[in-house]
Amino acid sequence: MLLSIPDVLTADQVARCRQVLDAAEWVDGGVTAGAQSGMVKRNMQLPEGSEAHRKLGEAVLDALGRCPHFISGALPARVFPPLFNRYEGGQEFGAHVDNAIRQIPGGGGRIRTDLSATLFFSAPDEYDGGELVVEDTYGEHTVKLPAGSMVLYPSTSLHRVTPVTRGARIASFFWIQSMVRDDGQRTMLYNLDTTIQKLRDDGAAEDRLVELTAHYHNLLRRWADA
Ligand code: NI
Repeated sequence: MLLSIPDVLTADQVARCRQVLDAAEWVDGGVTAGAQSGMVKRNMQLPEGSEAHRKLGEAVLDALGRCPHFISGALPARVFPPLFNRYEGGQEFGAHVDNAIRQIPGGGGRIRTDLSATLFFSAPDEYDGGELVVEDTYGEHTVKLPAGSMVLYPSTSLHRVTPVTRGARIASFFWIQSMVRDDGQRTMLYNLDTTIQKLRDDGAAEDRLVELTAHYHNLLRRWADA
């Protein structure tokens, strides 16, 4: 499932983060690439461990924790400390698949990348190109979201970022180990949760909602590793 989540950050939060991002020093993005992706990755990255990186990463994690859409769609067990990248002047990231296992810096252990996330900090009209293209069994999906919005997609997907031919594309990217590693199961749980919410909004009978909610939790219990 490819899931777009609007308004993870408010306009104010985006503006505050952008002040830090626009003043930050950037380094070559090759530092976190694997052997294959390193050959096709051409962008800049905020140095890990810098003050700007730490501050912005905390802001993103805080926002994720308050976002019910994210919790429901990702069922996160662990979130990789968010990274930040910048593409400009024709920079791009060719087709690749993200590493399955990542070491969390600073002795934070390993994470299995079930989901990949991009949180946009540039508005679409600030740059040309820079589309995230994700391939799945339904074909290619092109993603370019408003600043403050995020896309989640299975880390099993081949994906790329097209060349940025005007302006700069600034985004945060990171990975999530989900309590439910199978994308199909996660998708079913998300759809069931969303349907229950819609039924509640429609004023459905409470005892029926309780029954459906029991199914949700019993499926989650069956499939999840806490
Ligand atoms: Ni990637």
